[in-house]
Amino acid sequence: MINITKTYLPDRLKFNDYINEIFKLGYITNNGKFVQELQKKLENYLSVENLLLVANGTLALQVAYKALELKGEVITSSFSFVATTSSLSWEGLEPVFSDIDPETFCMEPKSIVKAVSGKTSAIVPVHVFGNACEVEAIGDIAKEHNLKVIYDGAHAFGVRYKNKSLLSFGDATTLSFHATKLFHTIEGGAVIFKDKEVYKKAKDMINFGFNPDAGGLPDKIGINCKMNEFQAVMGLCVLDDIEYILSKRAGIHGIYVKELNGIVKFQEQNPFSARNYSYFPVLFKNERQALKIKEALKKNGIDARRYFYPSLDTLPYIKAKQIMPVSRSVSERILCLPLYDTLSEEDVFRIIKIVKDNI
Ligand SMILES: Cc1ncc(COP(=O)(O)O)c(C=O)c1O
Repeated sequence: MINITKTYLPDRLKFNDYINEIFKLGYITNNGKFVQELQKKLENYLSVENLLLVANGTLALQVAYKALELKGEVITSSFSFVATTSSLSWEGLEPVFSDIDPETFCMEPKSIVKAVSGKTSAIVPVHVFGNACEVEAIGDIAKEHNLKVIYDGAHAFGVRYKNKSLLSFGDATTLSFHATKLFHTIEGGAVIFKDKEVYKKAKDMINFGFNPDAGGLPDKIGINCKMNEFQAVMGLCVLDDIEYILSKRAGIHGIYVKELNGIVKFQEQNPFSARNYSYFPVLFKNERQALKIKEALKKNGIDARRYFYPSLDTLPYIKAKQIMPVSRSVSERILCLPLYDTLSEEDVFRIIKIVKDNI
């Protein structure tokens, strides 16, 4: 079976050496040596500051909302993984959707403005498939209406924008380091905060609210979502190999683009945003065609995912104020084709042939 992605597993001996050291030290969690090392290396690799490692990308969103004191309504994208919206509801916030651009799949600034109300406290846009949102326009809207901006950057690991890190925009950006992601720590995630004081507060918050500057007492509300040492050493190993992973993915991406150009529609890339080759989404004419190709691939042991489906304005536990027509239309017609470092060229051409034969 060829799945949409395959977890990158680093050199076993190198990983074992780290595991042996963890056993020797006998210290496996609570901001250990390897979590601290990974934090520093990631800040350096990503060119960011105030990066807080956490247990997963969903909790990264929740911690960011809490640390930035969101309340009331939060404008977000209905074209995302369910966690972007469910994390808001889980925190007692009200998700209000705005629609996406049909070409870039990211939130459309004009639609954000329409969704602003007296109760809005923040915007949570998504860098969909690693493609940068219109960060300047979103920043201007936030400034005008005094709103916080938290980017869900789960797909945007390492993406550069106009010569700086895309992850440095907004009041915070969250990342997911799930095993299916480009860079992973088995499960894991991070929040990158703009403000050092908010970062410090969040660092206490992920450890039950214990504040070392207050004699170690819990002087604020907290939760437990710390990354552990086993997760961190997986991250250290994967980070060492990241250039290799990116180059393999770029190669496969290039073949798909060359062979499918003019046959299916691609996501339009923000011209100022570099690619990280995290996904290969393709858009079909209609849902029938997308489902036909999904089925044809499945018959050949290939799993193309309907990602993201369904559009989140259809979630049964959200009272969406309005239907999001563009998000629904893209959701119904999109498939992500398999993309991972060990996918062979032979298999890539097989996938391409099945798509071409069934269109
Ligand atoms: C856009 C987006 N946001 C949030 C998440 C949640 O991350 P995690 O699975 O690490 O909790 C994901 C995970 O796939 C995602 O794709």
